[in-house]
Amino acid sequence: MVDEIVIHTRRLLLRPLRQGDADALFAVFGDPEVMRYWSTPPWADAGPGAAMVALDQASGPDADWLRLGLVRRADDRLLGTCTLFDHQAHSRRCELGYALAREAWGQGLMHEALTALLDHGFGTWNLNRVEADIDPRNRASARTLERLGFRPEGLLRERWIVGGQVSDSALYGLLRRDWRMHPSSRFGSTA
Ligand SMILES: CC(C)(COP(=O)(O)OP(=O)(O)OC[C@H]1O[C@@H](n2cnc3c(N)ncnc32)[C@H](O)[C@@H]1OP(=O)(O)O)[C@@H](O)C(=O)NCCC(=O)NCCS
Repeated sequence: MVDEIVIHTRRLLLRPLRQGDADALFAVFGDPEVMRYWSTPPWADAGPGAAMVALDQASGPDADWLRLGLVRRADDRLLGTCTLFDHQAHSRRCELGYALAREAWGQGLMHEALTALLDHGFGTWNLNRVEADIDPRNRASARTLERLGFRPEGLLRERWIVGGQVSDSALYGLLRRDWRMHPSSRFGSTA
């Protein structure tokens, strides 16, 4: 069950979302700066957060996603989420998504979280490939992916229309063998 997944990193606790997280989620996903390149407009209230928590809590072992909250261990604050989603079991492939509260940007926290999530995905889920679809203007996201060893694989034109704004997708991919060789990986050499 998703509720059993708890991962400790140096500064973070990664855990499933819980009832009571909706306001903290709204603080992240209601911020227009955080949502500037997101696939939906900024949230107007905590309703979508409550729905997100309910959806995750209702998910069973066959769910095709794993979303974990990023909780800063120093003050127990929920600062964002990271998600493996659209799990294609036959192709052993998943997509990756992530968002962090603006006050916590630039400290390498998402790198820390995604390192642990990728170890989990390539390990427990036995993935062969993880991919990410980002707005090519989103430099922080591109740097986050590049630092993890993702490679740019192409540009899809005018793939999104969000709030009337048309944007392209830059696709990035990380293979199992790339991650095994990455200095941040704890993924076993026998995998
Ligand atoms: C993308 C995001 C998760 C990065 O998280 P983070 O913890 O701040 O990332 P890091 O501290 O590891 O920094 C990653 C890189 O981005 C750079 N960076 C951080 N904030 C930046 C900013 N606002 N503008 C440009 N570059 C930035 C860092 O310098 C670093 O680059 P480096 O490796 O060359 O030093 C965070 O900026 C965020 O949540 N953005 C809004 C949501 C979003 O865009 N999610 C991705 C959608 S696909």
